[in-house]
Amino acid sequence: MIIGSTKEDLTLEKRVALTPDTVKNYIGLGLKVCIEKDYAIHIGIKDDDYKKNGVEIKNSANEVLGISNLLIKVNCPSESEINNLKESTILIGMFNPTQNNKRINEILKKKISIFSLELLPRITRAQSMDVLSSQSNLAGYRAVVDSIFEFEKAIPMMMTAAGTVPAAKVLVIGAGVAGLQAVATAKRLGAIVSATDVRSASKEQVESLGGKFLTVDQSEDMETSGGYAKEVGEDYKKKQAEMMQEALKKNDIVICTALIPGKPAPKILTEKLVKLMKPGSVIYDLAAEQGGNSAFSEPGKINSVEGIKVIGVKSLMNKLPLTASSLYAKNLFSFIRNLYSKDKKDFFINLEDEIINKTLIKEI
Ligand code: NAI
Repeated sequence: MIIGSTKEDLTLEKRVALTPDTVKNYIGLGLKVCIEKDYAIHIGIKDDDYKKNGVEIKNSANEVLGISNLLIKVNCPSESEINNLKESTILIGMFNPTQNNKRINEILKKKISIFSLELLPRITRAQSMDVLSSQSNLAGYRAVVDSIFEFEKAIPMMMTAAGTVPAAKVLVIGAGVAGLQAVATAKRLGAIVSATDVRSASKEQVESLGGKFLTVDQSEDMETSGGYAKEVGEDYKKKQAEMMQEALKKNDIVICTALIPGKPAPKILTEKLVKLMKPGSVIYDLAAEQGGNSAFSEPGKINSVEGIKVIGVKSLMNKLPLTASSLYAKNLFSFIRNLYSKDKKDFFINLEDEIINKTLIKEI
């Protein structure tokens, strides 16, 4: 059985699905691996780095598509790749089915089994495959680094002969995977950190990282049985806005990460709230591509509003393509190991396995 991978559209995506390290794992399972020439040269990984671990290098994407039983990608294949995919190939990646429904339909018509890893259930057995967690963790880290770069003051408290520099204050909205990493990173850099979330369970996690939790009083538990947030009602929104009014006046940097799966990003920072921040403050909106948690945020733009910078993130993982690829490639391998039967020497789509069933796109 052959696993193949082709280049991504480099104008959109710098990550790769296969790293030289993970090749050894596939070969250990008894699989063969092939890639297209210059597959990862844009991030400094040479064909030879793959070749010495046992990968066969092909001259074109079509050659890879022609022989692969399973194709791994980061994003949805291009139209031309779809045309050249052979029937019965298994395709695995992060395909954003709602956004790419036209292409996914074409793929399904070709009787190709397509797995999209953003659909993984968040269960213990799937943790090593959890692409959303691995990428969001990096996003939380990078959000702090980028915000600090745009903030024109120092972050940690410094006591110098010329006077004391106060520590910057960072507020994180949404304490999920990205949010908790943002709390940890800002704390490590010396900021005074606070965070808020609709799920009361996140209070303990924020506090364990040295952050202060800002609670919005509520009677209902806002966590679903799957561990995600529920959409909040008007009463909660009002109370949250009141709490934000005070918090925004005091904080220098706000990192927005609030998300409800499958829904547009909750709008939390209204125009009025944003303008309460001091000039020179920074709002970094990780949810910009899902509609944004903050007013004035637009994907890929830095908007200046009365001296406050509102940064709308776009394709953040392209700023950390090596680390993001390394984690993504490991997530993919864990998923494929679960799909491959070493005894039968074949891939086995067992629909009774929750991981396989939930990630397989059956219709769109
Ligand atoms: P997550 O689901 O782990 O965390 C989101 C948190 O927001 C949850 O703890 C939830 O309880 C909280 N939340 C929901 N509604 C809220 C509200 N009204 N007020 C306060 N908190 C609320 O999500 P994750 O994985 O941490 O992702 C966070 C954001 O970062 C998402 O928008 C995601 O799309 C984005 N992201 C962007 C990337 C990029 O490259 N642009 C990469 C990775 C993540």
